[in-house]
Amino acid sequence: MALRVIPVDPFDLVIFGATGDLARRKILPGLYRRFLAGQMTPESRIIGAARAELTDAAFAQSVQDAIEEFVPAAQRDAASVAAFLALLAYVPIDAKGEGGWAALKGRVRSGVVRAFYFSVAPALFGDLAERLHLHGIADGQSRIVVEKPFGRDLATARALNTALARHFAEEQIYRIDHYLGKETVQNLMAVRFANILFEPLWKAEYIDHVQITVAETVDVEGRGAYYDKSGAMRDMVQNHMMQLLCLIAMEPPYHFDPDAVRDEKLKVIRALDPVKPEDIVRGQYLGANGSGSYVEHSEDPASRTESYVALKCHISNWRWKGTPFYLRTGKKLRARSSEIAITFKEPPHSIFDDDRGWRENVLVIRLQPNEGMNLMVMIKEPGPGGMRLMQVPLDMSFADAVGAEAVDIPDAYERLIMDVIRGNQTLFMRGDEVEAAWAWADPIIQGWEGRGDKPQAYDAGSSGPDDAMMLMHRDGRRWRDIR
Ligand code: BG6
Repeated sequence: MALRVIPVDPFDLVIFGATGDLARRKILPGLYRRFLAGQMTPESRIIGAARAELTDAAFAQSVQDAIEEFVPAAQRDAASVAAFLALLAYVPIDAKGEGGWAALKGRVRSGVVRAFYFSVAPALFGDLAERLHLHGIADGQSRIVVEKPFGRDLATARALNTALARHFAEEQIYRIDHYLGKETVQNLMAVRFANILFEPLWKAEYIDHVQITVAETVDVEGRGAYYDKSGAMRDMVQNHMMQLLCLIAMEPPYHFDPDAVRDEKLKVIRALDPVKPEDIVRGQYLGANGSGSYVEHSEDPASRTESYVALKCHISNWRWKGTPFYLRTGKKLRARSSEIAITFKEPPHSIFDDDRGWRENVLVIRLQPNEGMNLMVMIKEPGPGGMRLMQVPLDMSFADAVGAEAVDIPDAYERLIMDVIRGNQTLFMRGDEVEAAWAWADPIIQGWEGRGDKPQAYDAGSSGPDDAMMLMHRDGRRWRDIR
């Protein structure tokens, strides 16, 4: 199955923070892959901007190094890398002063889409927005892209929204949550709304509970200073996991249209009940099997930051009243495994004498690795000897279904940057959505900070703290294995 690539209009993309980690790992290698695929055409330009005094050639060299490091050798070739590097320029810039802005103005063209990627600390968002405006570099058609963390609570998120809104309309602001760019996450919407099969059952009447797991094996990867002030709740739950929950729980939007989708997500967040303290477990990993403990990455040896969260939440609306959603995420766990599992209720009446083999139907949507879907169904155990039941998977692996071209599927950042150029905000968070998510998360965080709660220890390489197992256990349920 050949993947269809539709080229986007020519653009000028200015990346503030172009020498930073995200630009090196994701944004620039991702743009190269889109160039190679023919989606970004040679009429486009990428202008790096950062504090460092670099020449165009030195910047191009650093981008070449990044491509060599982060794009597999089989997916690049010298000629296309050289052609891509020819589209780059660099401007040293002072976000808080006047240096470099006139030069930047001289670099951007009119008559093409102009986008500005703020891959910098959120404290600089307001300064950049203001200077782009003051120097006449951005106009009413320009787009700005901002990264998480979008605030650390409701008050700071509101302040950021206000600072951006001074110079840009909501239609110009693209708040990235890279989970929305993941292929399987978008697939959630296709599965729900392009099939008649699931939607009639998609409600509390038929669904016992939902589990959302984002398990990581990595630690804080050199970002200890940021992470220690953030923790798993701010780093993963308020944004990525909340988005997954919204896509599962939202009502069908009337159209696959940015505001129609975002309106429905917002309604879910607003319908979330406050989480009770007994329904949340925080954990922090201890060193095990040769790997260090969380506090070894922290500047504070007494850090109470959580590297793991598990919680149970309820959505108070007609569709979901009574169906709990269990969320868990953590670092240094047994395996890298992210999935959504929807467990259905039992049939109203069993007609079989021997139904010992009976298990619930479960729809598992695997986000990573090995993206795909698995529907657990009951069949007759083969062979003679009476009617006994057994559970089998109807298994769909994305790579098998799509074939070798699966390697060409754009990664989350690639997809999202192309959407910015196309002017499609469907997979970006709207300001009110981010604020509503903080309004839900704030009391949870304030609760444990106020009580001075310590996270429960768990071993690196395990499935998380024991209390997280109990969270399910006391409801007569269990987490799926992390493997
Ligand atoms: C980031 C978090 O937003 O998402 C990281 O800041 C986390 O802590 C990462 O590791 C996970 O993303 P992915 O795409 O690897 O699941």
